[in-house]
Amino acid sequence: MPNAMPRLPHPSFRDRVKRDPALRSPGERMAERKPVAAPEFRAKKERGERIVVVTAYDAPSAYYADQAGVDALLVGDSLAMVVLGYETTLPVTLDEMLHHVRAVVRARPKALVIADLPFLSYQVSPEEALRSAGRMLKDGGAGAVKVEGGAAIAPTVERLVDAGIPVMGHLGMTPQSVHRFGGWRVQPRQADAARALLADARALEAAGAFSLVLEMIPAEVARRVTAGLKIPTIGIGAGPECDGQVQVFHDLLGLCWTLAPKHAKRYADAGRVIRQALEEYAADVRAGTFPAEENTFHQRDLEDPDSWTG
Ligand code: KIV
Repeated sequence: MPNAMPRLPHPSFRDRVKRDPALRSPGERMAERKPVAAPEFRAKKERGERIVVVTAYDAPSAYYADQAGVDALLVGDSLAMVVLGYETTLPVTLDEMLHHVRAVVRARPKALVIADLPFLSYQVSPEEALRSAGRMLKDGGAGAVKVEGGAAIAPTVERLVDAGIPVMGHLGMTPQSVHRFGGWRVQPRQADAARALLADARALEAAGAFSLVLEMIPAEVARRVTAGLKIPTIGIGAGPECDGQVQVFHDLLGLCWTLAPKHAKRYADAGRVIRQALEEYAADVRAGTFPAEENTFHQRDLEDPDSWTG
């Protein structure tokens, strides 16, 4: 008796790849990834998904972080310290930040690019803040900005948000206030300061911030702030119960020549790898073994210098 069952076409490898995400190459998965926009942060909190943020300061760091699938790239003013060699974040200018934002955007990441507004580019007045933030989006191509400060900065946050600019807040050990704190210190340690931080967080949420960085604050305080907000908290030295984490690229990869902070975990020793590679290069040059034949260009008809020198 003939088989009455219709024969299903055998799925080609290409079809299987389309259906089974596990079989796709990282490049294919990246190409299919949707660009991340600021509202996705809150949606992730609602779905209980942790948010991954890392700093990036140039096209290669943006490219590799994006390939790793992070949700957002923060062009942090930490670049003053880890890229430009300053001791604090205060000296970096808006134009310098913009230069790095553009480089990150040129890597065409799918991750949200958040541009840090540097010291004194937004504190003087909401109008000046709007001009500075506007440049980050209009000239830089960023998708959001970040500002430091609590309730005092809330009217500025509101002004930016009203103009259509997504704003990330930043509380706790805010590096632009390092001189007021007298150094890099965990904030807050006392109950009244913890209460004030919670009020600041609520003020930023009410002003329209889409998320909040909590830097170097006790995990107990971060947990309470996180539970009390609808917008996600992104911790750096604020314990495991924030809605996401942010880390400095150079700290994660062992590229800092100074001591890495306690809150950072080193996932690679790229500094050692780079130094070893450059030592080998130097040794090859000194020994005359670099460049080798495969690194050399030839033009055989110019071999005899008498044929082309006078
Ligand atoms: O500038 C920066 O990198 C930051 C993060 C540490 C949150 O603000």
